[in-house]
Amino acid sequence: MQFYIMTLFPDMVMDGLNTSIIGRAVNKGLLSIEAVNIRDYAFNKHNSVDDYPYGGGAGMLMQAEPVYQCYKALAEKIENRPRVVYLSPQGKTFNQTMAEEFAKEEELVFLCGHYEGIDERVLEEIVTDYVSIGDYVLTGGELPAMIMVDAVSRLVPGVLHNDVSAEFESFQDNLLEYPQYSRPEIWHDKQVPPVLLSGHHVNIEKWRREQSVIRTAENRPDLLEKAELSEKEKELCEKILANQR
Ligand code: ADE
Repeated sequence: MQFYIMTLFPDMVMDGLNTSIIGRAVNKGLLSIEAVNIRDYAFNKHNSVDDYPYGGGAGMLMQAEPVYQCYKALAEKIENRPRVVYLSPQGKTFNQTMAEEFAKEEELVFLCGHYEGIDERVLEEIVTDYVSIGDYVLTGGELPAMIMVDAVSRLVPGVLHNDVSAEFESFQDNLLEYPQYSRPEIWHDKQVPPVLLSGHHVNIEKWRREQSVIRTAENRPDLLEKAELSEKEKELCEKILANQR
């Protein structure tokens, strides 16, 4: 999978993504990540890429032309028209289903805005997806792009050591993940739940499922609507929600 990131801060993106699991996947050739500097496509002698917004208002806007030229240079390297994701608080909120959808692409282009945003006209021409990572405003799209690259990359076959671990985790079935424990059996007077030491796999699975349901009801009741729950599990959730009211 090939990621291209259009940004004014290529070092920030590359420094953040060249380490750990993603860095290893790049070294193995499973992923490639290229940050392209929009400033290289500035068309004036001061190398500036921003200007005042028409109609007034606070701050500066990124101009259309450098972004467009940067995109055109990238698009020439890619066979089909790529999906271009513009990171913005105005976009659809990113979630695991979207990550799975994006992971099916061969190439993904991210466009990171700065200042007060980007001239709307170039967005209309090149952007296919508007994505936000949450209801808060950041100084630029770089961190959101890095988050998306991370979430999508770990779904690419071979990136995680253990392919199974991408399957059984939070948001699968719209439930949060159950708590996990490792050695020692007692730490700070806290005992590992005995069922996990029992070797009884059916009971372990039952306990984990119940913990997932409890966690989801306590922390993310909004997910429960889409989760497939048994009658007993529904009752459990009702009890937890009633206690919280
Ligand atoms: N740029 C600034 N804030 C953002 C957010 N919450 N999500 C995506 N891009 C952004």
